[in-house]
Amino acid sequence: MTGKIKFCMAGFGNVGKAFARLLLEKKAELAAEYGCEPLLTGVCTRSGGALINPGGLSVEKVLEMNEKKNRFADCKNFADCGVPEMIAASGADLFLELTTLSSGGGEPAAGYIRQALNSGMHVITSNKGPEAWCFGELNALAEKNGRMFLYESSVMGGAPLFSLVRHTLRGNRVLAVKGILNATTNFMLGELEKGGSHEDAVREAQRMGIAEADPSADINGLDGAAKICVLANVLMNASVNPGMTYTKSLAGVSAADLEAAHECGCRIKFICRAERDESGAVRTSVKPEKVSMDDPLANVGGASTAVTLYTDIAGELSVVHTDPGIMQTAYGVYNDLLTVAEAVR
Ligand SMILES: NC(=O)c1ccc[n+]([C@@H]2O[C@H](COP(=O)([O-])OP(=O)(O)OC[C@H]3O[C@@H](n4cnc5c(N)ncnc54)[C@H](OP(=O)(O)O)[C@@H]3O)[C@@H](O)[C@H]2O)c1
Repeated sequence: MTGKIKFCMAGFGNVGKAFARLLLEKKAELAAEYGCEPLLTGVCTRSGGALINPGGLSVEKVLEMNEKKNRFADCKNFADCGVPEMIAASGADLFLELTTLSSGGGEPAAGYIRQALNSGMHVITSNKGPEAWCFGELNALAEKNGRMFLYESSVMGGAPLFSLVRHTLRGNRVLAVKGILNATTNFMLGELEKGGSHEDAVREAQRMGIAEADPSADINGLDGAAKICVLANVLMNASVNPGMTYTKSLAGVSAADLEAAHECGCRIKFICRAERDESGAVRTSVKPEKVSMDDPLANVGGASTAVTLYTDIAGELSVVHTDPGIMQTAYGVYNDLLTVAEAVR
């Protein structure tokens, strides 16, 4: 027996499209193993408006239209509106928030999530902004409304970090977190070690599709700050945000610094940390640090990411995600969908 889960999506960019493709690929498996038949009832982008049909839209057609660069405006289910109107008209049980991080406060994504939770929808997001700025509030709202709020793909793509702690590390307290959370800067450090300049490293990262056209948020630590705040808020019950995070840019790291680190048996890595101070308050930082060669993070190269969790009972655990790509991020969203499907069933 299969149950329909009506879902609507804000954002149909790299993650949205990869998730849509994965959904098509897994359709039969979802029905057979999870009794779940997802039905798309709304999709909205910033520049394209929305397609809305509470009776169902064809995921294949939305993808095809996007690939042909056709406009939503040419379709019969077109609505010239933004995300709030799309959420309200979609009749969905589940809202996928897959828009980009805005400059601050986690908005407008956090507002979309509030609206969806207050409308009785479960929420999945790949956007780190809402959890970096308003995790406590959104999580409490989800609990109050008896709905799920899931965000597996927001940090380290599809590496199942949050489900690892939630399910597998049950009974542990996470005391501290240390990670390499930004793929672009980790790749750049590898290029610098090979003797390249900062400019060469950025160009190569862009050529390989790892870095964005403007990688400044990666290099100055803002991306890492948002990610470490998500981990601190979710895993350590903290109330921090990127504005409270100490950041030091990678731009000041020279070839001589890398060489000097090597000579004392270390590597320089762009390390994100969340730790408690003597008063018990969680402090977060993102900065280039010397890491001893016997630390699991020292040998995380290329565009890979990694995190070490320090727990009270299970000790120290490290998770490495080797060269994650867009399909792994889509998997994080899919993993959350399975969690919702199991709960709904
Ligand atoms: N790409 C990755 O590997 C990856 C990994 C982990 C997490 N994430 C996170 O996942 C999210 C999506 O990433 P992406 O790579 O798919 O980004 P993207 O390719 O830039 O796509 C973003 C999508 O969101 C839409 N959008 C942005 N602001 C909107 C708004 N206010 N209202 C409606 N639609 C809006 C955009 O519409 P327009 O195109 O019309 O502007 C576009 O469809 C981001 O928060 C990102 O940080 C991405």
